[in-house]
Amino acid sequence: MDDIAIARALHVLAIVHWIGGVMLVTLVILPAIGRLSEPARRVALFEEIEGRFSFQVKISVTLAGLTGFYMTWRLDAWDRFADPGFWWMHAMVLVWALFTAILFIAEPLFLHHWFRRRTAWDADSTFALVLRFHRILLTLSALTIAGAVLGGHGSFLF
Ligand code: HEM
Repeated sequence: MDDIAIARALHVLAIVHWIGGVMLVTLVILPAIGRLSEPARRVALFEEIEGRFSFQVKISVTLAGLTGFYMTWRLDAWDRFADPGFWWMHAMVLVWALFTAILFIAEPLFLHHWFRRRTAWDADSTFALVLRFHRILLTLSALTIAGAVLGGHGSFLF
């Protein structure tokens, strides 16, 4: 087993933890919390769950980025970024950069305060907005996973 195979396995494990978690939050947890009647309980429950996941996902997002760049370096695949046929390479970096910015910059700086202030003002519309945002990120991530598996195994879609 070579180092690229190990990096690929760690990359996929990190993606499973990260996007699997986003899938659970988007498809199961957020809709269930949205149905709770008491706004204060909704906010507390969401912050408890998302807070725990946010700590763990910082590790898997970092691992996915490190292993991804390591594979790109070892495969000497930097020129793929100049080729639109490798759109799935751009998509991987885009999804990674989006989550990194949200987790490491937006959340600690303002997202957390924004969520508290907005739920105190209007919990229903805030949860609807948060759910929509999660759905967009999940769709983008799922398309990226499909594109990366197809592209990485020689089936170029475009
Ligand atoms: C910094 C960000 C990332 C970089 C530089 C990166 C780079 C790579 C590279 C070089 C490969 C191997 C491609 C090949 O064998 O030709 C790969 C595979 C893969 N990546 Fe990423 N990646 C990144 C983030 C992501 C993200 C965010 C996702 C999912 C949302 C993702 C999902 C995958 C999948 C599913 C594979 C294919 C595994 C397989 O079937 O062999 N990657 N990535």
